Amino acid sequence: MTATASPIICGNWKMNLGPQSTKTLVNELLPVVTELSNTRCWIAPPFVSIPAAVEVATNSKLKIGAQNVHWADSGAFTGEISVPMLKEVGAEFVIIGHSERRHLFHESDEMIAMRLNAALKGSLFSILCVGETEKERTGSETEAVIERQVRSALTGKSERELASIIIAYEPVWAIGTGKVATPTQISEAHLFIRNLLKEFSKLVHPPILYGGSVTPENFTEIASIPEVGGALVGGASLVSQKFIRILQIVNH
Ligand code: PGA
Repeated sequence: MTATASPIICGNWKMNLGPQSTKTLVNELLPVVTELSNTRCWIAPPFVSIPAAVEVATNSKLKIGAQNVHWADSGAFTGEISVPMLKEVGAEFVIIGHSERRHLFHESDEMIAMRLNAALKGSLFSILCVGETEKERTGSETEAVIERQVRSALTGKSERELASIIIAYEPVWAIGTGKVATPTQISEAHLFIRNLLKEFSKLVHPPILYGGSVTPENFTEIASIPEVGGALVGGASLVSQKFIRILQIVNH
């Protein structure tokens, strides 16, 4: 775990939990989040559940965000949600370029860069997800894929902008599959990203998160990897006891 910035544990709820179940889960998390001394806890419920989460989490340390955002402020984009809309309901960050968006919904690097630009313009924190598919890993393309995804999103960004972008390394083959990357694979990818980031900024060192089948059982080992600055947690973030145990592993 990096010593410089406090770790971030972010729950990505995906298409789970409507407003009522959101209130229940947030209420279960709050007493623990209040006690966290050096760990930041963020959650990204579905769009329709954001207001419920914000209402329950008001005046707490829990940060509420969204799972995606469109690049335009408004207009004829059926089914999309804009940065001003997210801000109006109290979202403070957004996940951009999640592999399910890239692969299931065919979002290109270009679209992801546009989404990131909109978030920056609107002063929303972003978690930018990058990571290779199984085929890309076996084809020894992991670094080339990560580099392409990072460069297409970060090129031209100022130091100030870079300070509000957090990168999550999520190998696509590890997401929702129960297959976790090995400590060596995680460490290599995180170091590669860290070195790449040095090209863009001399000053900013945001935490780099790991994501992909994180559970309380495997997270102690993952959190001990020096470059890991937290986690993006899918399935295990939907069960309060599991998510709380993950938070407690990093908080001391
Ligand atoms: P998972 O999802 O923890 O269920 O593998 C992680 C993610 O998609 O961010």
